[in-house]
Amino acid sequence: MESKFKILGHGAHPILIVFPLGLLATAAIFDIIYMLTNNQQIANAAYWMIAAGVVGGIVAAVPGFVDWFAIPKGTRAKRVGLIHGLGNDVVLILFGLSWWLRRDTADHAPESVAFILSMLGVGLSLFTGWLGGELVERLGVAVHDGAHLDAPNTLSGRPARDRE
Ligand code: HEM
Repeated sequence: MESKFKILGHGAHPILIVFPLGLLATAAIFDIIYMLTNNQQIANAAYWMIAAGVVGGIVAAVPGFVDWFAIPKGTRAKRVGLIHGLGNDVVLILFGLSWWLRRDTADHAPESVAFILSMLGVGLSLFTGWLGGELVERLGVAVHDGAHLDAPNTLSGRPARDRE
């Protein structure tokens, strides 16, 4: 099933998800480094990465929802997409709460609850990210109909099932 929300012929969601995935995962790693080193600059960097990651996740969710709505009802892809989407909403809420709890701490350092929330968020994102890969690689969501190894360039306007 082709993506319904594209940028230059490719699904917008897989392009935009690099922001939440990269920023939130790195923020969680920085939280662990902060807990081990007490380095205030690391804590401050994590705070701003969470803010940017949550905003990036909200933006990336829009084309994700558009594609999910287009998936036919009653399919495994519809179910997996629902768990993936709702799960990622929870990921964004966990990181959002973690960010909120550290807005007034010194250098925005995470205290125990904020730290636990970001660990829960990154843990859940491993599962929801895997479901995302299942949607594309196994269930063919956002893959061009007839895609094959010798398909012509997307921007050529020719169908993927053609040969180059
Ligand atoms: C933090 C937010 C999100 C992240 C990090 C995320 C991550 C991912 C990842 C890693 C993939 C696989 C991409 C690939 O293998 O090329 C994916 C695909 C997908 N995700 Fe998400 N996702 C998020 C939110 C959502 C939401 C809210 C929905 C709505 C139901 C959604 C629907 C989809 C769909 C339908 C696909 C299949 C590919 C596509 O249609 O673009 N995602 N997502």
